[in-house]
Amino acid sequence: MSKIAITGKGGVGKTTLAALLAHIYAEAGNSVIAIDADPAASLAYALGMPEDLAAQVAPVAEMEELIYERTGAKPGTTGGFFKLNPRVDDIPDRFSVLHRGVRLLQLGTISTGGSGCICPESAMLKTLVTHVILYRDEVMILDMEAGVEHLGRATAGAVDAFLIVVEPGRRSLSTAQTIQRLAADIGVARCYAVGNKVRNEADRDYIRSSLPGLPVIGFLSANPRAVEADIRGQAIFDAVPELVDEAREIAAAFDHALAG
Ligand SMILES: Nc1ncnc2c1ncn2[C@@H]1O[C@H](COP(=O)(O)OP(=O)(O)OP(=O)(O)O)[C@@H](O)[C@H]1O
Ligand SMILES: [Mg+2]
Repeated sequence: MSKIAITGKGGVGKTTLAALLAHIYAEAGNSVIAIDADPAASLAYALGMPEDLAAQVAPVAEMEELIYERTGAKPGTTGGFFKLNPRVDDIPDRFSVLHRGVRLLQLGTISTGGSGCICPESAMLKTLVTHVILYRDEVMILDMEAGVEHLGRATAGAVDAFLIVVEPGRRSLSTAQTIQRLAADIGVARCYAVGNKVRNEADRDYIRSSLPGLPVIGFLSANPRAVEADIRGQAIFDAVPELVDEAREIAAAFDHALAG
């Protein structure tokens, strides 16, 4: 059961790819847990979740009582004593919603000092993600906010791979290289790039040649209907079959790379 973290510069298509892969793995008969780790949560919409269901997903970082009960400290406090490995095994089932074979969990925002801080809520989230990776028999798709420092070493070391999304353009490509370096530093086993919003073969060549040492495992074409689906809150999986076909190839290439 693959454990995949999706990362990349802001706006490159991380959430779009996360939603596509979640539906593809679910359709293939896998249990899937999609974790929205972006404080500006949007994965529910990309998965086409109805509003009322999406509203039931409670961000774990904002559960003050629970964090206090499990870590022994109030969220927002730093410097005191708290458990670094609180009990989390009940959280994925209790606080997620299940829709079309995809379980969605939302991590939420850490208010104090960013998510890299050593505080009760970050201990809770890191322990939670590590638990999902190590102990749950599901494909995990983690939709990260731009950057990798949020994960922590133990969690990062446990994922099978980072999928780094890039688009034709220097900034996302240079971000990808930075992410690849940081990923190596924190112990991520493998990194692959996915080129998104590509218009033609020249874009593909440009992406491939700009990322020496980072295998590009697939591409998603630029498609105006992706934006349309985003605006309408329609599942990208339903709205743009061409992207689904391309994402299937990416999933197959990824599974193959992991097996090899
Ligand atoms: N292949 C594509 N073709 C055209 N538009 C796309 C494509 N993929 C994504 N988009 C559009 O680009 C925008 C950003 O996509 P998305 O939200 O998936 O990116 P993100 O990396 O998750 O962004 P953020 O960093 O804000 O979380 C959205 O409007 C989305 O519809
Ligand atoms: Mg996103």
